[in-house]
Amino acid sequence: MKYKSISGMHDILPGESPKWQFVEQTAREHFALYGHEEIRTPIVEETPLFARSVGELTDIVQKEMYTFEDKDNLSLTLRPEGTASVVRSAIEHNLINQTSPDLKVYYLGPMYRRERPQKGRFRQFHQIGAESFGSKSPYADAEIIEMLAGYLNKVGLKDWALQINSLGCGHERKAYQEKLKGFFAKNEKNFCDDCRQRIKRNPLRVLDCKNPKCRELSKDHPDILDFLEPESRAHFESVKKTLDELKVPYEINPKMVRGLDYYQRTVFEFVSDRLGAQAAIAAGGRYDSLVKDLGGADIPGVGFAIGIERLLMLIGEPKPIASKKIFVAFLGEAAHARAREVAFQIRQNGISCEIEADEKSLKSQLRKADKLACTHVIIIGEEELKQGMAQVKDFSAKTQTNVPLARIVSFFKGDVVD
Ligand code: HAM
Repeated sequence: MKYKSISGMHDILPGESPKWQFVEQTAREHFALYGHEEIRTPIVEETPLFARSVGELTDIVQKEMYTFEDKDNLSLTLRPEGTASVVRSAIEHNLINQTSPDLKVYYLGPMYRRERPQKGRFRQFHQIGAESFGSKSPYADAEIIEMLAGYLNKVGLKDWALQINSLGCGHERKAYQEKLKGFFAKNEKNFCDDCRQRIKRNPLRVLDCKNPKCRELSKDHPDILDFLEPESRAHFESVKKTLDELKVPYEINPKMVRGLDYYQRTVFEFVSDRLGAQAAIAAGGRYDSLVKDLGGADIPGVGFAIGIERLLMLIGEPKPIASKKIFVAFLGEAAHARAREVAFQIRQNGISCEIEADEKSLKSQLRKADKLACTHVIIIGEEELKQGMAQVKDFSAKTQTNVPLARIVSFFKGDVVD
C-alpha cells in the first residue's frame, strides 16, 4: 500500500523550501517595520467561533469547513482563516481592551477549506496575515494596504492590481440588503437551494456563491456604494486620498463584497491576471464589530491575508545568497578523524559543511560534492595528514591550493593564508 497526500493538500519539498523561507522572512522583517509582532494560534478552534465571525451563511462555513467531533462531543474545526482566531486570542489574553485597544500582529500558517482543488486553489493552503486593532481612522486602512503593497513589491511581485470598495455599516448595509432582496426576488426560484435561503436571511452572500447559474443571475446587482451615507462616504474618500498620497495605485470595484461576513466599510483585494480564475493574491478589509461580536470590547480592526501558494506562483526564484558550501573528503581511517574535526570547526565558524558518514572512494565523494552544489572540497588523505596539509579545490575559480590543516578555518573565513 502506497500512501499519498490528501487531495488539495501538498508537501513542500526541500527544493521548494528556500522560496517559502524567503517570502516568510521578508514578511517578518517588513511587518516589523510597521510595529507588527508575531502571534501563533492553534490550527483547531471550536466550530461556533467561525460560524459567528465568518458567517453562518457563507460558503466557507456552509460547505468548506473541516469540522469533526472530538471525544468530548465538542465540535471542532480546522481554521479556514486566521482573523477569527487572532480576535479570539486577543480577547482571551486581554491583549486589547477599552483602556488599551491598540494591537498590531501578524501570523503565518496553514488554513483549511474543503473547496474543489484547481490551479491556485487548495484544501490546505498557507496565509501570511496581519491585523491592526484600535483605530477606526481611514489612515489605519491606508497604512495596512500600503504595508501590503510594499511587501509585494519587496518580494518581487510588481504587476499586482489593487481593487477597493466600501461595504458601509449598520443601517446602510440593512438598506442595501433590502434592495438586494428585491433585486433577487424576481428570479428567486432559479437560484440554488443555498442562495434561496441566503436571499431571505443574508442576501449579500448570494454575491459570492460559486454556482455559475447564481453568478449569472446576480451579475447586474445594485452597487453598495450608492447606499453609503455621508460618514462612510467620507471615510472611503479619505482612504482613497491617503492611498494617493502614499502613491499606492488602486481601482474601485463597486461589485466586490468579499466572502466573509465580518467586513464593514473598506474592503480590498490585490489581484493578478496571471493567476487565472483564482485571481486574488491577497485580500482583507475593516471589521469594526468583530471584536464585540466575539465577546470583547467595542474595538475596531483592519487586516489582510496573503495566499502564499498564489504568491509563489507569481514570483521568480529568489536570488541565491552567494555563500560557501564546503565538502570535506577523506581517505583512510586516520584522515577520517581529522576530517570530522575540520568539518566541526568549519560549521562552528558559521560556514555550511558536508562530510560523508562512511568512507567512500574519492571519486564518489567528489560526485556527492557536485550533487550538493558545494563551492569547495577539502581533501585529506593519509599523505596530506602526515604533512599537516590539505588540498582545497575551489569549484568556481577552478583552482587547487595546498593549505596547512592548522589554518584551514582562517583560509575559508578570509580566503587568505600567509
Ligand atoms: P480570504 O479572501 O478568504 O480572506 O483569503 C485571503 C487570501 O488567501 C486569498 O486572497 C487567497 O490568496 C488565499 N486563499 C484563500 N482560499 C484559498 C485556497 N482555497 N487556496 C489557496 N489560497 C487561498 C481571509 O482569509 C481573511 N481572513 C483576510 C483578512 C484578514 N481580513 C481581515 N484580516
